[in-house]
Amino acid sequence: DKGNHRHFMAKEIHEQPEVVAHTLSHYIDMAKESVVLPGELPFEWNKIERVSISACGTAYYAGLVAKYWFERYARLPVEIDVASEFRYREAPLRKGDLALFVSQSGETADTLASLRYAKEQGLHVLSVVNVQTSTIARESDVIMPTLAGPEIGVASTKAFTCQLSVLACLAIAAGRARGAISDAEERKLVRALIEVPRHMNETLTLEGDIEALARDLGKSSDVLYLGRGTSYPLALEGALKLKEISYIHAEGYAAGELKHGPIALIDETMPVIVTAPYDSVFEKTVSNMQEVAARGGRIILLTDSKGAAEATMPGVTIITLPDMPSSVTPLVYALPVQLLAYYTAVALGTDIDQPRNLAKSVTVE
Ligand code: M6R
Repeated sequence: DKGNHRHFMAKEIHEQPEVVAHTLSHYIDMAKESVVLPGELPFEWNKIERVSISACGTAYYAGLVAKYWFERYARLPVEIDVASEFRYREAPLRKGDLALFVSQSGETADTLASLRYAKEQGLHVLSVVNVQTSTIARESDVIMPTLAGPEIGVASTKAFTCQLSVLACLAIAAGRARGAISDAEERKLVRALIEVPRHMNETLTLEGDIEALARDLGKSSDVLYLGRGTSYPLALEGALKLKEISYIHAEGYAAGELKHGPIALIDETMPVIVTAPYDSVFEKTVSNMQEVAARGGRIILLTDSKGAAEATMPGVTIITLPDMPSSVTPLVYALPVQLLAYYTAVALGTDIDQPRNLAKSVTVE
């Protein structure tokens, strides 16, 4: 049932404040403002030397954000691969370390094969899954469920932000157990998470502005997405969403990589979408935007009020999101990124919930 939405994707985008709040409520003691994981872990965070994350597609991008979080908040080294690469590259794995898998369906063949491989190598297997009866869930040592509810649209939306919610809680739990963050820091991070659904609701009020921008985007044949730090995976996710449902060619890049190649593509016809909250790397991203503007490029900037005040170069259209701590920006910035892709596809009249050549769950390698 799509409710009063035209597509499941729209419904699922709009469900995010609710399902993220629901997911967080299973991982957070709201009164104590601390993380309480819903299951016992079969390992101690202190004994883990490295986390190996594998996943595919959007779930991989959630894992990529989590890499920044685990390293920053838990001082825990993370390696991450797309699942189809992980088990073939003969990585030296250490028995007793942690292998983390992220999957909405829990049936993705490559992710499942990587899980079995990690298990054989003696790693602890923890999975973040949406379908709790799935094969990946069954074969894991422990699961941390996302409570997104059934996701029908082939393009993943609410599963992504729920994955980020769970992964953020895991990183905080690891940080506390490893003594990498203080109680006060934990409370601050948790408070920021609790505010996410409110920021999401506020962001959804920008829908009309995003729809208007998307009508123009539909006229382009190529789109470049740029971001730094935890906004870099969002650039990748934005490009994937646009490709999947609008069939427009899009690429996501770390903003700093612009001058190492993709800048050659910039002209007046190529839109560049920049996800850049005002955080510690914002100034660096501004210089990348200046490089784009100097070549006549058109920029759509997703930022907050401070970022909007500083990004004054010509050719920029700004979508101003609410201000929030930088620890949680990936969760909220995911929404305008999804909406841009969605409304571009609406303008083009593609089959949004069932894009050509794609399946909801990829059960072959
Ligand atoms: O079910 P999974 O999370 O394991 O699926 C992984 C990918 O196939 C999936 O995220 C795919 O990239 C989506 N179509 C993205 O929108």
